[in-house]
Amino acid sequence: MNSLELTIANRNQKLNLAKIEQILCSEVEANEAIRLHCNETPFDIPQNLKQQLVDKMNDLAWNRYPEFHQTKLNALVAKEAGLSSENILLGNGSSQIIQQIVNCCSKFLSEAIIENPTFTFYHQVCQNERMPYKEWNINENDSFDLSNFPQVSEPSLIILTSPNNPTGAILALSTLETLLNQYNNCVFVVDEAYGEFGGESALPLVNEYPNLLVLKTLSKGYGLPSVRFGYAAGSASLIQLLKKYAAPFTINIFTELVVSEFLTNPLYINALKANQARVKNLRDFVFYLLNEMSGETTFKVLPSAANFLMLRFFDAELLEQVKNVLSARNILVSYPIAQSLRLTIGSEVEMSKVIRIIKQVLNQYKAVSNQLEEVIIS
Ligand SMILES: Cc1ncc(COP(=O)(O)O)c(C=O)c1O
Repeated sequence: MNSLELTIANRNQKLNLAKIEQILCSEVEANEAIRLHCNETPFDIPQNLKQQLVDKMNDLAWNRYPEFHQTKLNALVAKEAGLSSENILLGNGSSQIIQQIVNCCSKFLSEAIIENPTFTFYHQVCQNERMPYKEWNINENDSFDLSNFPQVSEPSLIILTSPNNPTGAILALSTLETLLNQYNNCVFVVDEAYGEFGGESALPLVNEYPNLLVLKTLSKGYGLPSVRFGYAAGSASLIQLLKKYAAPFTINIFTELVVSEFLTNPLYINALKANQARVKNLRDFVFYLLNEMSGETTFKVLPSAANFLMLRFFDAELLEQVKNVLSARNILVSYPIAQSLRLTIGSEVEMSKVIRIIKQVLNQYKAVSNQLEEVIIS
């Protein structure tokens, strides 16, 4: 050990860091885990609205396959997207469509371009489909910098997420159009899983660019991940091609019923809009509070257009302490990239718990750092 390491070891003993952590961790709550790791919404739909759906489910014929072409649902989704039925491909959540797209495109295109960082499923699917990929590094300055865009030598599949997961950053439509014009022999996917929380949708560009697919899901902004529903919007020819790679009956009758109601019935639409607005307000408030607490030696919080916030830590030890205390209190968050923590926006009560914990850990950390400084100076 050199002298500084020795001083730090002494400091840890003197100030009994472990004990501090133990006290903070000791407030373990016996109840269920607080789920802030999957970007779910904390607010379920009202019980009476659920009951109405359950009643309708009773009237369906469970012994029959769903309608093969899903004509009615397709038309409703097309209306929602401002497009025609021929522009829409329905899927069992957007993950299933992602798999279908990569499965199809790996037969015609030489490689994929994905962002770094991005939704980890993209790595998995590309690997499974034996599709090599290059990464567009948006990590530096957390921005979509075109000068970093990888070299594209052959027709490729370019997958972009906006707002990005896990950073929450938005890809400007002007940047997207620059890329679409430059690489018109490539297939573009713009994943807007978090689009209801911020950013401008690329859906209106579908009619202009035959090589563009826009992905939507009901799992995030609509708060319905259990229902498993998503769709891709694109030119009729691209959608036609993708349909050849679909398994039959991906949409079950219960999903069809719930989605139809959420797209047409004002009671459901109002309930989900209220939940969306509540999450957005909370996100902005939590951002403000965390931003106030952040600092050059501790962490920064990234502005986000999604239903989560990304915290980047400048000291791994501080992150470790936050991690330990959150986990001891049964609060689940995610750690998708090094030195970072992604926090889904939960309910008001959940957020105040998390903020309190981060504040407590930060205060202890600062007290220890100040005393270390004094030890070194003396
Ligand atoms: C960017 C992104 N795309 C797609 C998905 C998949 O959503 P689902 O399959 O529930 O529609 C997720 C889920 O977290 C995501 O973060």
